[in-house]
Amino acid sequence: MNTDSLFRPFSLKSLNIKNRIVMAPMTRSFSPNGIPGADVAAYYSKRAAGEVGLILSEGTVIDRPASSNDANVPHFHGTEALAGWQQVINEVHANGAAMGPQIWHMGIMDNHHSGWLPSTPFEGPSGLNRPGFNNGNTMTEADIEAAIMAYGAAAAAAKRMGFDTVEIHGAHGYLIDQFFWEGTNLRTDIYGGKTLPERSRFAMEVVKEVRRQVGPDFAIILRLSQWKPADYDFQLAKTPQEMEAWLNPLADAGVDIFHCSQRRFWEPEFEGSDLNFAGWAKKITGKATITVGSVGLTGEFLKAFAGESSEPSSLDELIRRMDRGDFDLVAVGRPLLSDPNWVTKIKENRVEELIGFSKDALGKLVMD
Ligand SMILES: Cc1cc2nc3c(=O)[nH]c(=O)nc-3n(C[C@H](O)[C@H](O)[C@H](O)COP(=O)(O)O)c2cc1C
Repeated sequence: MNTDSLFRPFSLKSLNIKNRIVMAPMTRSFSPNGIPGADVAAYYSKRAAGEVGLILSEGTVIDRPASSNDANVPHFHGTEALAGWQQVINEVHANGAAMGPQIWHMGIMDNHHSGWLPSTPFEGPSGLNRPGFNNGNTMTEADIEAAIMAYGAAAAAAKRMGFDTVEIHGAHGYLIDQFFWEGTNLRTDIYGGKTLPERSRFAMEVVKEVRRQVGPDFAIILRLSQWKPADYDFQLAKTPQEMEAWLNPLADAGVDIFHCSQRRFWEPEFEGSDLNFAGWAKKITGKATITVGSVGLTGEFLKAFAGESSEPSSLDELIRRMDRGDFDLVAVGRPLLSDPNWVTKIKENRVEELIGFSKDALGKLVMD
């Protein structure tokens, strides 16, 4: 297997990466009261030492009282949490990787199994997490404005602290995606509407505020998914034309890189072409894209939460698509949960040492 094309450098604005491999954002819930400690810094710096090019942090929540449903998910605000993140970025840089936090507001959530609740009710476009499931408040325009400002403040903090980029989490059924989806956005004001571009207004305002706060030269990544946890086969954009109407305004608002979340990277987005989501996003917008989803593994990640293990698999199809120019970067999730040295092993073609993914890696921070 020739993996040379994964080991070319990549540069875009503030982002300089030594190879094309990105650690996908993965929630770990190892930050008591929202504060990442020395173990979290060690966990990320091990992946940096293992030659990951760009690390995207686990989702880390913005400064809204109900942005999280889990007391152990890290905050990206407040003196103590930011001091923890400063330690993370210092150690990651010392070990040679670039890094960006994934800034996150969960929106309307199920209550956490621990029983922990935020100090105010969950908030979202219409109180809904999925059609028929209401578990919080409909945001007022003042709430929306405050949330937009909180995304901006988090991005500004990331830049100030020396992170190389920031990723806005707009995928997987959380707050921004709750605005995109007609099943959870029933608003009749300027943040709602019958069309996806109308329901993208919140996302656009978040991107614009982040851009205003970080300036023109700082790379902004936006993560999107067509699928929802409530509906794996759902498509927000059902045709290339609908995707164009969705993504181009977001690109104009300031997105530099679209991170296109799929469960399996090889699945085509629309009939009549084998292009995947990242392939279409790049073709439509001309922006750089990141692909993701079961790279180097036999099984997909949502089944991992149900305890399913995965074996290593070939990278040939990934490389074929990359060499064709479909996407610029490749994000890898579970292999890097299980093995901080996955990238080094791929680079040195130590295929027999690849260990795949087993569910034990979910419950701890694997250090070696
Ligand atoms: C334990 C775990 C936690 C995750 N947490 C997040 C998250 O915080 N933010 C996010 O955008 N995606 C999250 N994901 C999805 C991953 O970023 C990635 O898209 C998914 O695992 C598919 O990549 P893989 O097949 O290489 O694992 C998570 C996945 C796993 C396995």
